[in-house]
Amino acid sequence: MRWTIFIGLQILVVGVIVGAAVFVAQMHDDHVIIAKKPPPSIGQWYKPDNKRQVWLHTMFRLRRQVVAIEVYASAEDSENLNTWLGMLTKDYQKIASMVPEWAPRLDLEALAAVQNAAGESRYKDVIAALRALNDTCRSCHADFRAVTAALYRAPDFSTMKVAGGKPLNEHMAALSRQVNHIKIAFTDGRDADAMAAFLNLKTGMDELGGTCIKCHNKLGQKPYPDPALSGAIANLEESLRTGDLKSKGRSLGMVAVLACAQCHGTHRLAFDAKVLYGQEKNWRTLLQHRF
Ligand code: HEC
Ligand code: HEC
Ligand code: HEC
Repeated sequence: MRWTIFIGLQILVVGVIVGAAVFVAQMHDDHVIIAKKPPPSIGQWYKPDNKRQVWLHTMFRLRRQVVAIEVYASAEDSENLNTWLGMLTKDYQKIASMVPEWAPRLDLEALAAVQNAAGESRYKDVIAALRALNDTCRSCHADFRAVTAALYRAPDFSTMKVAGGKPLNEHMAALSRQVNHIKIAFTDGRDADAMAAFLNLKTGMDELGGTCIKCHNKLGQKPYPDPALSGAIANLEESLRTGDLKSKGRSLGMVAVLACAQCHGTHRLAFDAKVLYGQEKNWRTLLQHRF
């Protein structure tokens, strides 16, 4: 009797937990994105832990080897085929020693099938087996490629400071206010205020430019404002002095695209993804489900 009560209670407890989990999962079904995180051991193959982007270069080699094997199998060129297959074998197997957690994602049988077919000069079978091998590339990429690139390769702006030590996002918020001040002021006919906000924006952009040089150091060319943006800034100044409402609006829009949107399209998007994927899981926030 005691045992039946004990087991009954266990079943009840497990039932309640499973029920709660299913309930929570369903409540959030439409609102949660689930992504797999790469094992941290991959970090050692990226800068700054490594001097080179070793992981990425291994991948580029794999792609080249797959293409070469396809080419030489089609051409029935056994010698070149086997040379490239030797390299593919080495690099494909290396994935398991570089990131041991990913060893089960490799298909060594498919690799052996490519090797056997190549050894027996069955060229059509080489290509078929290579396709099966390629599926393992694609399945790992589907799970991990985007997240890994965002986490390990997107430039990190979180600790970046702009002239005078102001955090980047505060500087951004100030730039955004200035852009809007310009628009509000000229729309309401306060031309002197529009010009004052413009001059602040110009200074703010020059200060921001100091942070780009570290990475964008093309010889003899200022990365930001670059010549195209400088031209648009001169245009805007001219419009603010002499232009009508329409030309003021148009030239401000041009500056915003070149000065803000272009960089946001690359850096902000990638940085946001990095931050999002890098977040620790937080069940409390999830359970609050305020969407
Ligand atoms: C176990 C996981 C895994 C396997 C297996 C794998 N890759 Fe990758 N691969 C990755 C990850 C993660 C990235 C993203 C790296 C980055 O962008 O920094 C990547 C990126 C790449 C890239 C560069 C990004 C792109 O698509 O332009 C190429 C090319 C590539 N892999 C080729 C291959 C080939 C070919 C194979 C199979 C022969 C393969 N990979 C197998 C994990 C894997
Ligand atoms: C930590 C290094 C780093 C800093 C700082 C940095 N960038 Fe970049 N930026 C990169 C890298 C790397 C790429 C190439 C991204 C890619 O193609 O994967 C890039 C690409 C870009 C691109 C898109 C490609 C192009 O050249 O048109 C723009 C626009 C850009 N950066 C603007 C800026 C501006 C403006 C600043 C300063 C306000 C800046 N970046 C600061 C590293 C940096
Ligand atoms: C490096 C290239 C780059 C350029 C150029 C750039 N931004 Fe940004 N911006 C970023 C990044 C990266 C973030 C995210 C910062 C963060 O979340 O810490 C950001 C965030 C912002 C934010 C949100 C700030 C906040 O409160 O968190 C605003 C607003 C903004 N930018 C406006 C602008 C405007 C307006 C311009 C043009 C005058 C501009 N940005 C130019 C990269 C850039």
